[in-house]
Amino acid sequence: MKDMYILAIESSCDETSVSIVKNGCEEIATVVLSQIDIHKQYGGVVPEIASRNHIENITIVLEEVLTKAKMKMAQIDAIAVTNGPGLIGSLLVGTMAAKTLAYLYKKPLIPVHHIAGHIYANNLVKPLKFPLIALVISGGHTELVYMREHYSFKKIGGTLDDAVGEAYDKVARIIGVPYPGGPMIDTLAHLGRPRYKLPIPLNDDSFNFSFSGLKSSVVNLVHNENQRGNDVDNNDLSASFQNVVVGILTKKTMHALQELGINNLIVAGGVAANQGLKERLEKLCAEYNINLSIPPINYCTDNAAMIGAAAYYAYKQGVLADLELNAKANIKLCDNYE
Ligand code: KG4
Ligand code: ZN
Repeated sequence: MKDMYILAIESSCDETSVSIVKNGCEEIATVVLSQIDIHKQYGGVVPEIASRNHIENITIVLEEVLTKAKMKMAQIDAIAVTNGPGLIGSLLVGTMAAKTLAYLYKKPLIPVHHIAGHIYANNLVKPLKFPLIALVISGGHTELVYMREHYSFKKIGGTLDDAVGEAYDKVARIIGVPYPGGPMIDTLAHLGRPRYKLPIPLNDDSFNFSFSGLKSSVVNLVHNENQRGNDVDNNDLSASFQNVVVGILTKKTMHALQELGINNLIVAGGVAANQGLKERLEKLCAEYNINLSIPPINYCTDNAAMIGAAAYYAYKQGVLADLELNAKANIKLCDNYE
């Protein structure tokens, strides 16, 4: 079969990214323009500012990726775009850019769900092996997804309230760490001891998670310590929080693998960059003979290469859109997804 080059666009949150991916597994070139420094001063992503910046950046990033890849639009076989879920204004910029390119250069248009992208980031490292379970953990998602084969998704569990990355970012704010707090909490956790007692959230046999109570416990702990005139040790608090989060994520994931009799695990999303989680999962997976795949950090956080990888398999399944394609803030990955 002829090689297929997909030009993919990702703009669902605060990264403007365009990538060219060959056959769903080989990254030819990627450009990611992060707005983190702009949003940092507000303590989180400001949707209106994010979409304005995407508008300013999208054509620059597009031209840059073609230059980097030394390719022309004529060599591109299809255009892919994240059309949801995410911030609606941000998604609209990427979707409009993709539709314009598809129309102008007469290319097929492939809509990609953001979570499918995160999962397929692993395919850029090594081919996915099926059946598998994907632990999807990001600023907006915490989900256990079962995949029998390519581009077949079944959600088997998820968070009942906050996403795990959201909990990291909120705890970071409580202890005065700038947005996005996840990476810094991870670093501090390695310098501290988990000596503060925090409750293990939703510690049951289900595959669901809950993180809002844990965040409230951290707020209460800091408040109580301050009232007693004690300083809270941020390293120890980070270690305590991370210990609980990693404990419950790994417990439920290993339980799901055992219950469904699956020995392939992939981790996806921004929180997959977490060092503490990686260490614990590597140990457990070696012990239980599970093939583990965690992408390198640049494929964990939002990027368009993952969208280009997923798009190849979407295309093979006939997932195509016309110029009516719209961006959607909330969109299902599959039928049993809410
Ligand atoms: O996937 P992503 O880039 O954007 C979304 O789709 O949400 O994930 C961003 C999230 C943020 O909440 C950030 O704090 C978290 O991933 N994150 C981490 C780490 N690196 C990024 N959380 C914990 N430990 C990390 N090392
Ligand atoms: Zn993401």
